[in-house]
Amino acid sequence: MPASPPLPQPLVPLTLRWEGDVDGSLTLIDQTLLPIELREIECRDVETVWEAIKSLRVRGAPAIGVSAAYGVVIGIQQALQGTSKELLAKFHSVADYLATSRPTAVNLFWALDRMRRKARDVAGDTPRQIASALLVEARAIEAEDRAMCRAIGVAGAALLPNDCGVLTHCNAGGLATADYGTALAVFFSAHEQGKTLRVFADETRPLLQGARLTTWELMRRGLDVTLICDSMAAQVMREGRIQAVVVGADRIAGNGDTANKIGTYSVAILAKHHGIPFYVAAPSSTFDFGIESGREIPIEHRAPEEVTRGMGKQTAPTGVAVYNPAFDVTPADLIAAFITERGVISPPYVENLRRLRD
Ligand code: MRU
Repeated sequence: MPASPPLPQPLVPLTLRWEGDVDGSLTLIDQTLLPIELREIECRDVETVWEAIKSLRVRGAPAIGVSAAYGVVIGIQQALQGTSKELLAKFHSVADYLATSRPTAVNLFWALDRMRRKARDVAGDTPRQIASALLVEARAIEAEDRAMCRAIGVAGAALLPNDCGVLTHCNAGGLATADYGTALAVFFSAHEQGKTLRVFADETRPLLQGARLTTWELMRRGLDVTLICDSMAAQVMREGRIQAVVVGADRIAGNGDTANKIGTYSVAILAKHHGIPFYVAAPSSTFDFGIESGREIPIEHRAPEEVTRGMGKQTAPTGVAVYNPAFDVTPADLIAAFITERGVISPPYVENLRRLRD
């Protein structure tokens, strides 16, 4: 009998997936290798999950949150044979450990808090029952993220005219979430509706998430994408090629100030100058109502080598001083609207964002 043909591969494989029951494992696309190589890593211990988050093998605020939720399930596997008290002690130390991986994306802390609440609810159960309940919670966080991506896509697509140019920064696509993204969901959804879009992707120095990941995703899904260096955005706007900017977010304060990948703030200023609407697409899990303004958002600083050896070879003198904040904060007054799974939210933000808290 002739061998059956290989199954068709999905256009964009899953960013992450859990395999098995409570003693299962988390498989992630290693995003540091893209677009050259599409390879997965299997996480069977919590240190591997922590390292994957820290070194951006898995990245993007929602994907970090989902990975951390599964990470705690992995972290308690060795405590399944002990008492419930021992398992819960292990759970808390693992959750605290994962919380040290990256500071800015609030989805990490949001997901870990959800897992902590679940652990509290089931504290009286057997170790295996507790672990099962935690796995169910992690799966729910993943499933909700998928649904949020779809809803954000539909809400945002309505804001884009047909036949327009759009600009995005960094990668807020399927690779940054459990499904097809936040900012990129808006483009995918508009494309599915038959709208013609020309997407411009900033390359996003120093780690090139735009060049490596955003273009890869958009090309795989058949969208028209053009890569530009970060420094070209002003010129491209002045040439009239951009009708809207859509970016993702890592943490949004109660007043609407938004942390996202370094360089986002510059793009927002440029958009304002050229009269182009600047939208932030994010699920409610990215809003941090515990802080009033962007001044309180902790900004991650990363290794100098990301700047001096960013292209895989040395591009600056040895020993040069480097400043490398991974995120910046865009003030709320530069943001035309937030695109969330609960619809589009316009200013005044302190008042209008409140509906996401309920
Ligand atoms: O450092 P990264 O690659 O994790 O930064 C990612 C971003 O800044 C994204 O825009 C943000 O997390 C939103 S992802 C839907």
